[in-house]
Amino acid sequence: MSLARKKEQLGEEVERKKISEKMFTKFAEKMYQISGVHLPFTPKNESLVQNRIVKLLRTHSLNSFEEYWDYLEVGGTDRISEFTSALTTNMTSFYREESHFEFLTKTLPILTNKFGTDLRIWCAASSTGQEPYTIAITISEAHGETHFSPVRVLATDIDLQVLKKAAAGEYNNREMEGLDPLMRQKYFDKTRTKGEDSWRIKKQVSKLLTFAPFNLMNEQYEFKQKFHVIFCRNVLIYFDDETKNKVVDNLTKALEVGGYLILGHSESGNMRHPRLMPLSLAVFKKI
Ligand SMILES: C[S@@+](CC[C@H](N)C(=O)[O-])C[C@H]1O[C@@H](n2cnc3c(N)ncnc32)[C@H](O)[C@@H]1O
Repeated sequence: MSLARKKEQLGEEVERKKISEKMFTKFAEKMYQISGVHLPFTPKNESLVQNRIVKLLRTHSLNSFEEYWDYLEVGGTDRISEFTSALTTNMTSFYREESHFEFLTKTLPILTNKFGTDLRIWCAASSTGQEPYTIAITISEAHGETHFSPVRVLATDIDLQVLKKAAAGEYNNREMEGLDPLMRQKYFDKTRTKGEDSWRIKKQVSKLLTFAPFNLMNEQYEFKQKFHVIFCRNVLIYFDDETKNKVVDNLTKALEVGGYLILGHSESGNMRHPRLMPLSLAVFKKI
């Protein structure tokens, strides 16, 4: 049998594999340990973990979940990073939960009055970049195109694959959803790659951003300076209450007094913190 056929057959066998509860639990516990992402044994999570690990089995020509587990247990940053990346959910879009960008536009002059023009914004689970670019575009719109903006945006994520894509700042039509044609023209250069439209962020926007890996599970958040605004949206939903509270406490410590913490619309329901005053939907001010 040819090597290609053998690989194909292996792929078909792997495709048919069903993950056992025991193996699911091992992978879920590992993911929790690394990232805080909590994956209870539900039919939805079962197929998520199964499908995503099956892809890794194929990539590494492995036969079973058990073999992949041994492969993972050998360790090494690349293996851990690939596993983490496979099990994160990276759904995002430009202007997602738009009210937060309206809030930012309204708040920039207040922040500038209080803290000066050298503002620091952190986008703490930035996925493929649409969110931090929306922040930077909002700042550019507020300041006017030609105005030199000293505002800096730090964009971080645990997933190195999405971070790489974010730093490249290049998107296809589907990934550009949420941005109207005028804004596309204004802030992106359009090219064609492999017969498809491709949009690359312009330098005037990308120069406001820095991309870096960061795990929200870190015990302490060590930054030289505190932030004036932190966006941490649509990631707390993957954490259990204990992790969520710890992360929110660390984010609050990383904020200047008078600065703002912005969570996802569905994440702030029963959020309580002695230093956070709720302002509007999922927006808090540090007091
Ligand atoms: C659903 S996306 C949300 C993206 C964006 N914030 C938004 O609202 O559109 C969740 C992101 O959180 C990241 N993430 C998950 N666990 C994390 C952790 N422990 N530290 C940092 N980022 C994490 C994932 O890699 C993913 O990119």
